[in-house]
Amino acid sequence: MKAIQTIAVCGAGTMGSGIAQLTAQAGFNTIQFDLSPAALEKSRLGIVAQLNKLVEKAKITAEEKEQILSRIRFSKELADCKADLIIEAIIENKEIKTKLFNDLAVFNDPAVIFATNTSSISIDAIAEGMDHPDKLVGMHFFNPAPVMKLVEVIQGSHTNPLLAEQVYQLAQQLGKVPVICRDAPGFIVNRVARHYYLEAMLMVEKGLITTGQADAAMEAAGFKMGPFKLMDLIGLDINYSVSNIVWEALGCPERLTPSPLQQAKLREGKLGKKTGEGFYTY
Ligand SMILES: NC(=O)c1ccc[n+]([C@@H]2O[C@H](COP(=O)([O-])OP(=O)(O)OC[C@H]3O[C@@H](n4cnc5c(N)ncnc54)[C@H](O)[C@@H]3O)[C@@H](O)[C@H]2O)c1
Repeated sequence: MKAIQTIAVCGAGTMGSGIAQLTAQAGFNTIQFDLSPAALEKSRLGIVAQLNKLVEKAKITAEEKEQILSRIRFSKELADCKADLIIEAIIENKEIKTKLFNDLAVFNDPAVIFATNTSSISIDAIAEGMDHPDKLVGMHFFNPAPVMKLVEVIQGSHTNPLLAEQVYQLAQQLGKVPVICRDAPGFIVNRVARHYYLEAMLMVEKGLITTGQADAAMEAAGFKMGPFKLMDLIGLDINYSVSNIVWEALGCPERLTPSPLQQAKLREGKLGKKTGEGFYTY
C-alpha cells in the first residue's frame, strides 16, 4: 500500500470546502478542485474565515494558519487532481460521479484510492460504472466536516478491503471516529435516524405534540438537537430527499413513508434556516 501524502478533494461546495480544510489542517498536501471558479473562491474565503476564528480562539497561531493555507492548492483544472487519495464531494448524481472517477483514473497512479462522500447513492452502483471498481470506498463525512467526528467508511461489494482499511486509518489521522459499514440504503446514520424525524413529524401531524415540545423533550433526554431544529439546520429539501431515497431503496415500507407535513413545507418554499423559515422562523 502506498502512503497517503497528497489528497485531492473534488467539489468545493459545503462538504468539499470543509473536507479540504480538514485535510490541510491535518498536514496533507491538498488540492481543492471544482469546475466553478466562483465556488473555489467561496471555498477559499470560507476556509480563511474558519481558520481566522481558530486563531482568535488561540487554537492555532497566525503562522499555523498561513501554513495550513499554503498546503491547499485551489484549481479548476481536473488535470491538477493527481493524488494518493481523491475524495469526491460533487453533485449527488451517480453518472457524473462515475465519469469523474473514470476521467481521474486515466492520469493518476494505478495505486490511487477513490473515495466518495455520497450521502445516498449506493457505492456499488457508482462502482459498477467504473473501470476500476475495486478502488472505490465510501467516505461519508458529516456537516460541518471539520467539526463532526463521525466518518462512515463504506465497503462496497467490489471494494478492495485493504483500501477500506487504509481509508479507515486515514480518517483516524484526521482526528475522526470512523465506523466501517456495508453498502446499504442510508448507510448507518441516515437509516437509523429516519425515525427520529418521521415519528416526530407524524406525532405533530396527528396533533399529539407541538414541534417545540418534541425538541424540548428530545434535548432534555440527551439528544444534542431536537428533530425539528435539526431538520431546519440540514435543510428540509435535503432531509426529504434522503427520506425518499431510503424509503424507495427499501421497497417503500409504510413505517418509513416520507412525511406529508414536510412535503407541505417544501411546497411553501420553507426549507429551514437557509430560507429563513422551516419549522421555525429565523
Ligand atoms: N450537505 C451535506 O450536509 C452533506 C453531508 C454529507 C454528504 N453530502 C454529499 O456531499 C456531496 C456534495 O454535497 P454538498 O452539499 O457539498 O454540495 P454543494 O452543492 O454545496 O457543492 C457541490 C460542488 O460540486 C461542484 N461540482 C458539480 N459537478 C462537478 C464536477 N463534475 N466536477 C467538479 N465539481 C463539480 C459544484 O460546482 C459545487 O461547488 C454530495 O454527494 C452530497 O450527497 C452532503
